[in-house]
Amino acid sequence: MREVVVKIKQNKKIAPGVYKLVLKGDVKDCNRPGTFVHIQIDGCYLRRPISICDVNRDELTLLYKVLGRGTDILSRQKGSLNILTNLGTGYNLKKAKKHTLLIGGGIGIPPLFMLAKELIKKGVSVTTIMAFNTKAEMFYVNEFKKLGAKVLVTTVDGSYGIKGFAMDAMKNLKYDYLYTCGPMPMLKAIYKMTEGLGEYSLEERMGCGTGTCMGCTLETRSGPKQVCKHGPVFPGKELLW
Ligand SMILES: Cc1cc2nc3c(=O)[nH]c(=O)nc-3n(C[C@H](O)[C@H](O)[C@H](O)COP(=O)(O)OP(=O)(O)OC[C@H]3O[C@@H](n4cnc5c(N)ncnc54)[C@H](O)[C@@H]3O)c2cc1C
Ligand code: FES
Repeated sequence: MREVVVKIKQNKKIAPGVYKLVLKGDVKDCNRPGTFVHIQIDGCYLRRPISICDVNRDELTLLYKVLGRGTDILSRQKGSLNILTNLGTGYNLKKAKKHTLLIGGGIGIPPLFMLAKELIKKGVSVTTIMAFNTKAEMFYVNEFKKLGAKVLVTTVDGSYGIKGFAMDAMKNLKYDYLYTCGPMPMLKAIYKMTEGLGEYSLEERMGCGTGTCMGCTLETRSGPKQVCKHGPVFPGKELLW
């Protein structure tokens, strides 16, 4: 864990309620897909955790959705930000197999971007399912395509791509490993459908973000674990679902 002050290079809306935040500074350790930074926001006592979406030398990209007070203030923030970097354990890229599936639901999509980028660099063939409610809420579809990932989009209302949920797109696909991040009902449905195949990034409300307050404790098959320190990514076989 490292505390750094970074400059806000860009903080712009890319979809309804979703912002792209580009930070410039010493972010060299933000290079593990699935890990996160903890952002200090003016007027908020607790920091807010946001996944690393991408990093290029001294530029870190985060995508976040305005949900409550903290992210609302963040969407108007200019100047600089104090962040804690290099938090959590990320996805285990060594586990990727020939037919690797990435499944992102809504604002769970961002950490899969750097994961797709790194897997493709290693020569893994990546299929990404991007699940949204409607066409109007879509973001980053072209960015994934530009990486060279095969992309399937689902929308609940059928306004774009496959009508339904991520699991509807999975039905006709061949895959031997998966990485996922998204809303809990989606993660649990994927877990049930695949008997816990792959790795699941969980979202918990966080206090310290560094494993000391125990505020994010999760009971797993190998005992209690802190989502911020031992996660947020857990192998499916560890989860008690
Ligand atoms: C490891 C990790 C990575 C994350 N990555 C991203 C990301 O890349 N982009 C993004 O937009 N969000 C991400 N989140 C969720 C993000 O941290 C919360 O949306 C944010 O903290 C909400 O702050 P707020 O002050 O705006 O909302 P609050 O006023 O604190 O809460 C607003 C609503 O959001 C819910 N909420 C708050 N925090 C969380 C949380 N941690 N998980 C689930 N629900 C929450 C509350 O229950 C409430 O209903 C991540 C969370 C974790 C734990
Ligand atoms: S948030 Fe404090 S231990 Fe995880």
